[in-house]
Amino acid sequence: MTKIKAAITGVHAWVPEDVLTNEELSTMVDTSEEWIMTRTGIKTRHILKGEGKGTSDMGAEAVKGLLAKTNTHPDEVDLLICATVTPDMQFPATANIIADKVGIKNAFHFDINAACSGQIYALTTAAMYVESGRYKKVIMVGADKMSSIVDYTDRTTCVIFGDAAGAIMIEPSDDEDVGFIDSIHQSDGMGRVHLHQKAGGSVKPASHATIDAREHYIYQEGQAVFKFAVSKMADVSVEMMKKHKLGPEDLTWLVPHQANMRIIEATARRMGIKKDQVMINIQNYGNTTSATIPLCLWEWEDRLKKGDNIILTAFGGGFTWGAIYLKWAYDGKDHK
Ligand code: ACO
Repeated sequence: MTKIKAAITGVHAWVPEDVLTNEELSTMVDTSEEWIMTRTGIKTRHILKGEGKGTSDMGAEAVKGLLAKTNTHPDEVDLLICATVTPDMQFPATANIIADKVGIKNAFHFDINAACSGQIYALTTAAMYVESGRYKKVIMVGADKMSSIVDYTDRTTCVIFGDAAGAIMIEPSDDEDVGFIDSIHQSDGMGRVHLHQKAGGSVKPASHATIDAREHYIYQEGQAVFKFAVSKMADVSVEMMKKHKLGPEDLTWLVPHQANMRIIEATARRMGIKKDQVMINIQNYGNTTSATIPLCLWEWEDRLKKGDNIILTAFGGGFTWGAIYLKWAYDGKDHK
């Protein structure tokens, strides 16, 4: 029996209208356009505003657009997986809320929390459900309202993050030459000391004291995370290239998690690829955590061609990291 191939058959994203510039941040904390640009490469980030608006609202917009452009009726969807670190609430899963908002009724839904790598963990999970033969239409949503956990008095984290959502359709492919080829995923729980949220979970439930101590915001030791991110994202991407005998010229696109321009450039250097082989939009959106890779694929969709060799790679809190190797399944200009 031939193995069922899973392939990406559509991608869509949604970004909130409100923009937070470096100039505006410079009035909020002791920072400057120059520092932010040279240390991170970020110019602007988008922020979801509005009472009662959460991650699921952005995820639902991304999924609605995906269903429309892939001509999919909500009843046809078998499974929806949401990668997020900013769920609407601790439970139920944000995937459930998104599915309800878009009218997906005949499916099951769950969240994956693996920080910024959640998006590639969720994509691999989606692909495996399709490859198993059990499901035919699986949606992966990467969505984060990072502004809900960013401390806008902490200059070391507030300049980095933004809000967005992206959605990807994964289906069986009749063409054996395209689709998901391989994935490498890794985690190291020791890394949790460098990047976490101190309160609001079961170890330290929310209280007046934890609020006063600002412990519901992102805690990050930037340099420690930076060092690990640079080495792990490059290691895993180079490992994938070696495993599949891909030279730099064989790779059409690297789609890296957008955490810091310097991390992206270091990864590309280690892989020996040119900057024009790398999807980069960090300058416009900052680090949108689970949404960065779908957001890139969506922005570049009309330039993607059937058969393109693509490596997706991410790194995030946990620590978590990994890479996916796939061959793009359609000419994107026909889908945009
Ligand atoms: N403006 C001006 N100065 C600043 C700012 C700022 N916004 N932030 C920090 N500084 C200062 C520091 O206080 C420090 O000053 P000092 O030398 O007087 O002590 C100096 O700049 C250097 O600080 P570093 O922390 O060494 O700065 P670095 O170059 O490492 O940049 C950054 C910080 C951008 C956070 C970087 O470390 C980084 O990108 N880390 C990785 C982030 C990441 O990949 N996270 C994982 C994904 S997120 C997730 O999973 C949810």
